[in-house]
Amino acid sequence: MVKSERSRPHVMLAVRCPAKLNLFLEVVGKRADGYHDLDTVMQAIGLCDELRITPGEEGEEVSLACSEASLPTDSRNLAVRAALALRERTGCRRGARLELAKRIPMQAGLGGGSSDAAGALAGLNRAWGLGLATEELRDVAASVGSDVAFFLYGGTARCTGRGEIVEPAAAPAVFHYVLVCPRVGVSTAEAFARLGALTYPRASASILLAQIAEGSVEGTGRRLFNRLEDAALALRPELHEVKERLARTGLFAGVGMTGSGSGVFGLCRPDDWERAHDTAARLGLGDVYAVRSVHDGVGVGPTAT
Ligand code: C5P
Repeated sequence: MVKSERSRPHVMLAVRCPAKLNLFLEVVGKRADGYHDLDTVMQAIGLCDELRITPGEEGEEVSLACSEASLPTDSRNLAVRAALALRERTGCRRGARLELAKRIPMQAGLGGGSSDAAGALAGLNRAWGLGLATEELRDVAASVGSDVAFFLYGGTARCTGRGEIVEPAAAPAVFHYVLVCPRVGVSTAEAFARLGALTYPRASASILLAQIAEGSVEGTGRRLFNRLEDAALALRPELHEVKERLARTGLFAGVGMTGSGSGVFGLCRPDDWERAHDTAARLGLGDVYAVRSVHDGVGVGPTAT
């Protein structure tokens, strides 16, 4: 420890790990591996966890400390799993101390754990001086979890396969959302299990993507879609009230559910944003956040030691 501090400056990195919203989510098929193939449009938002990384020496461990006591800090945590997968992929034997400040609500369909994992990959790639290109990190990301690769790119993207095939999409405008996280969570596995036979006609993301490319709040709001919504509502009927009451405020161009829930969000005109937030907060439906779309994904920067 003392030796390493002498031999090289003690560099600490801070990685911003944004949450996501699913503006569109269609389940297109069931796979042999038990997962489902998706066609989804993901949007990174400015609600972020922060991951601090202090690189260690050869032969040292990867350790994690987390502000959220209910989260595991061993290899069940996706950030640790990502660090171990990166070592495996590159043969790097160095350790790292990870410190995670959680701000993204959990079990809400916001992808926080996946974003932390992407943050660990991007941050350790820098901290360990590995020099992997984003495309190489993407392969490691896909082995860690379905949503991890998206957060390496962020912004707006159409994601297919299990979600790990990421195609960035044009989204010139900044969109304004109000996010409500009810105190009940939804298990992703249970929501997918409720889908049963996938006999419905498949919805298409194309029209939504065209509306986003035009920067149309009204058009985008009208086209929000999530195939997992009915399954989540069956598991947690109270989510129906959350959606209905947000819609009834009349302040949103559209109201949707993200991932397998339980996060529900409304898209509004910029001028209505503050009022929509305050109105939603007064409804007492859960924790309420005013969030904007962002154009990037995980962001690595230095921090004071
Ligand atoms: O990605 P995550 O590990 O959160 O997924 C939890 C569960 O949700 C998986 O074990 C699987 O049952 C289901 N799932 C799926 N298809 C996906 C993503 C998740 O069936 N594309």
